[in-house]
Amino acid sequence: MTMRPDRLFLLIAAVYLVGGSALGVWMGVKQDFSLRPLHAHISLLGWASMALFGLIYRAFPVIGASRLARVHFVCALVASLCFLLGLYRVSAGGAFGTIGEVGAVLWIVSGLLFIFVTMRLAFGRDDA
Ligand code: HEM
Repeated sequence: MTMRPDRLFLLIAAVYLVGGSALGVWMGVKQDFSLRPLHAHISLLGWASMALFGLIYRAFPVIGASRLARVHFVCALVASLCFLLGLYRVSAGGAFGTIGEVGAVLWIVSGLLFIFVTMRLAFGRDDA
């Protein structure tokens, strides 16, 4: 099975869109907004950021097909899951914890990977 970061990013974005929006509906129904930060991050980090990565990799196939883009996808996915879990723990009155910290650091790492990927776009010779 071929791993295509553009489509995978869009798929995970769609999942986060539904998850984040469903959480928004749930908050409204219960009139309990304590999970508001979690809802905002699922929606913006999950839906918006992942969709943007997917569209960018789709718009520029020369970077979308690269090995680094695949590593970026895996890193961003793991980072988002760990980070959101940590955020959930905070919203539930607990500590952000190691899982949240790992997620935050991995999210930065995935951002750095994205810089390397886009550097290829900015300075590469391919006319894509
Ligand atoms: C069915 C869809 C959605 C529902 C029902 C919903 C519901 C809510 C509710 C009830 C709040 C809390 C408002 C308050 O405390 O006054 C909220 C906050 C927020 N939502 Fe949504 N939302 C939805 C989709 C989205 C999407 C798609 C995004 C972003 C792409 C988003 C981003 C935010 C942000 C940034 C906040 C503010 C968080 C904060 O102040 O800490 N929401 N939403």
